[in-house]
Amino acid sequence: MKKRILTGDRPTGKLHLGHYIGSLRNRVKLQDEYECFFIIADLHTLTTKPEKTGELKDNIYRMVLDYLSVGIDPQKSTIYVQSQIPEVGELAVIFGNLVSTLRLERVPTLKDVMKDAHITIPSYGLLGYPVLQAADILMPRAHLVPVGKDQVSHIEVTREIAREFNKLYGETLPVPEALVPEDIGTLPGTDGKTKMSKSAGNVINLSDIAEEVEKKVMSMYTDPTRIKATDPGHVEGNPVFIYLDAFGSGEDKEQITKYKELYVKGQVGDIEVKKYLVKILNNFLDPIRKRRAEFEKQPELVERILKEGTAKAKKEAQATLKAVKSAMKINYYD
Ligand code: TRP
Repeated sequence: MKKRILTGDRPTGKLHLGHYIGSLRNRVKLQDEYECFFIIADLHTLTTKPEKTGELKDNIYRMVLDYLSVGIDPQKSTIYVQSQIPEVGELAVIFGNLVSTLRLERVPTLKDVMKDAHITIPSYGLLGYPVLQAADILMPRAHLVPVGKDQVSHIEVTREIAREFNKLYGETLPVPEALVPEDIGTLPGTDGKTKMSKSAGNVINLSDIAEEVEKKVMSMYTDPTRIKATDPGHVEGNPVFIYLDAFGSGEDKEQITKYKELYVKGQVGDIEVKKYLVKILNNFLDPIRKRRAEFEKQPELVERILKEGTAKAKKEAQATLKAVKSAMKINYYD
């Protein structure tokens, strides 16, 4: 039997090249080898923005379009919406009793999120963020959770909850493992900052049209020590070259190497290299745009994919909840 994977995102906006490098391209690969569940974790957005529920529906739709356009295949994988599966909330209520508040206060992401969102005292829901995430992961009884480094502390809470459950009520839940990509660092933003992120306003979105990509690349940060094109330049840590390496295809490798050599010698200007990067990125994005356009023409198909995915996930949720309640002997009227 194929092992199960669960991972996903909060529907907070458009996905960008950083998401592609950090997770999406890995998911596309994993769907052949594993049975994949991709959660759109809308309930998790309430932990910092309970007043912003009005934009969720559109954001969910956009996120599914992003998933489908990069090649997540609904024939192979299950895409579903968290809030449409009440069993997840029920699991979270149960799991909340298997972890202490002190333990949750020590989860390192909590402080970061509070700082970013200017929150001084966390809500019960925000403190419980990793508990809800544990419910997401244990719901389909996932074995593996592909996530970025920043999420590992949450998966650790999930593991502790699963172990505690099994200890108290008998072996019921698999203890999942985080699957963290090791090969790549994070993709820097167009402003040279270490991370591409929507809040920093330094992103190239998967849904950006060719002209937008051009505009963003041509004003991109490069080597700040280089004043004229004849100055010897730095390739390492230069986002233009990092993007070239990340998005150039096999056929582009030779040209990229050539540009690197010329750049360090001060024999090619930033504009020429950037124009080349525009071409590379648009070549990379074109098939993604084409697939997006196909799905955009069929909103009822996109909706059906979500509905069917959610129905399939719900079956798993019901089975898990049944096993959980039975192990706990609270299945009185089954
Ligand atoms: N917390 C994750 C993030 O912010 C999103 C998420 C919610 C998730 N539930 C999950 C990721 C379950 C992996 C598994 O990126």
